[in-house]
Amino acid sequence: MCGIVGFAGTREAAPVLIDGLRRLEYRGYDSAGVAVSDGAAINVAKVKGYVKNLSDMTHDGADIRGRIGVGHTRWATHGAPNDVNAHPHMSSDGRFAVVHNGIIENYALLRQELTKNGYTFASDTDTEVVAHLLEMYYDGDARRAVMKAASRLEGSYSLGVICADGRLFAVREQSPLILGLGVGENYFASDVAALVPHTKNVIYLDDGEFAELTPDAITVYDVRGRAVEKPVSKVAWDVEAAEKGGYEHFMLKEIMEQPACFKATVEPRIKDGRIEFENFDLTDEELHDINRIIITACGSAGYAGQVGRYVIEELCRVPVSVELASELRYRNPIIDRHTLLVVISQSGETADTIAALRECKARGARVLAIVNVVGSTIAKLADHVIYTWAGPEIAVATTKGYTTQAAVLDMLAIWLADRLGLMEKERYDALVEALHAMPGQIQRAIDLNRGIHRLAKKLCKYNDIYFIGRNLDYAVCMEGALKLKEISYIFAEAYAAGELKHGTIALVEQGSLVVTLACYEPLFDKTMSNIEEVKARGAEVLAVALEGNRKILSKADDVIFVPRTDPLFNPIAQIVPLQLFAYYVAKERGCDIDKPKNLAKSVTVE
Ligand code: BG6
Repeated sequence: MCGIVGFAGTREAAPVLIDGLRRLEYRGYDSAGVAVSDGAAINVAKVKGYVKNLSDMTHDGADIRGRIGVGHTRWATHGAPNDVNAHPHMSSDGRFAVVHNGIIENYALLRQELTKNGYTFASDTDTEVVAHLLEMYYDGDARRAVMKAASRLEGSYSLGVICADGRLFAVREQSPLILGLGVGENYFASDVAALVPHTKNVIYLDDGEFAELTPDAITVYDVRGRAVEKPVSKVAWDVEAAEKGGYEHFMLKEIMEQPACFKATVEPRIKDGRIEFENFDLTDEELHDINRIIITACGSAGYAGQVGRYVIEELCRVPVSVELASELRYRNPIIDRHTLLVVISQSGETADTIAALRECKARGARVLAIVNVVGSTIAKLADHVIYTWAGPEIAVATTKGYTTQAAVLDMLAIWLADRLGLMEKERYDALVEALHAMPGQIQRAIDLNRGIHRLAKKLCKYNDIYFIGRNLDYAVCMEGALKLKEISYIFAEAYAAGELKHGTIALVEQGSLVVTLACYEPLFDKTMSNIEEVKARGAEVLAVALEGNRKILSKADDVIFVPRTDPLFNPIAQIVPLQLFAYYVAKERGCDIDKPKNLAKSVTVE
């Protein structure tokens, strides 16, 4: 995934573009570049590495003059990260420069055609074909050239195109692109985080649409080139929300924001003690028509789905399965109109998740999306949407995205069980009460573990770690293990505690660290036995247990305590200290916490 920005105004463009790229750097950071027009020619600066390299190279943009421009920060898909493959890419005649987020799936054929027509390529990227298509189709009308070039592309792309004469275009197809309306200047970006320092008035482009931006106006066109009216939305958060707020890393800030984000996600959906969703409802007939639920997502979103599966099955008695989107999309799945597909995605742009959604929708599934980004592709494709209101999540490793996804799944389970007539009023009221209490419980989970950095210091030397648990604890193990892997690069594996003895325990020995989640009380004694099993083989055990549990102290070498909540919601309290543990272990190991190697915030390519 990459980040693109565009600017049309009366002040110098490059400094504005570079600042915008800094705010999008979580989307990709292996190279960066800008192209600006002074009305006669295009000036380009691009370089491998972070946006900082681009800024240093151009004295923060002061060296390249022009009041209209485009910028790009890259996460490589085609062509290694280097100066040549960095965007923007130029047409041979110097008339056009283009930046791109997504994948042009037919680029090889287009490259062959263009080469045959005498065009020469400087880079290994798919994007460069766009620059030469623009030149090939240009006959004096830049807008028509943009339309014709875009009509030849297959795949997902958001494009920023600048012309030497100063015209600026934005094109969207299955990759996010938002327009910002300023005063005497206008903008576009892959994410509102780059727009909010300038404006909160935005237009979400839809697939197939493109726009021309001048300092005074934005005109949006449909795929056939007809001007269309688009609603102007107001961004609900401000620039501070996308800043670090005094924390050393976005990840720590976002961990600490979780009580507030949980509250922001849940409270607006509880009115007079009843759960109701602003964008989602089903008739009784539609409800009773559902005979199974499939949850699909990638990464941590899928692990939030694992928690949701236990809760929904427990309360609703409907079969629920959790499917990796990258597998579901190719599995020729058995889906029909009786399937409710719950699609979970923080960004709403993950390619595998989008593809799985399309596949299942085409087979008749009803689709409910749980996403954090308004106007995202998944939000638009789904039949129903329940937003998590976590605000912008910048750190690559999700934290508040995960816990607010789990919050929505908990509410969904209660709502569904009630609608299916499976929940007594007392139980419903108790669960709603527990939801109200959760922000405080999350805060207590933080407060109980203010010294967790000392534990991280002690345990950061381990190079392979097992997370074991049963039932809901096992679901939390998956996310706990991934957090550690993502940011500290320690090999960590989540394992069902009852399954360990069937093979993997062969690996457990002196020097192994086993993180044992022991909060699911119905199986506590079984989990205690598992602790004894691994201790007998020399492992060190870090347990996660409910506050006040004294028995655990007799078995575990170290214990992380979490507050007692309704058992079904305990995963949300449990994951918070595990996020902090991963954060401080990564810190001890000197890792780049907000931008872990090889990762991107949302993988919008296969
Ligand atoms: C990964 C992110 O690239 O994609 C994870 O690093 C995330 O944090 C996963 O869980 C899915 O992304 P999304 O945006 O669909 O939730």
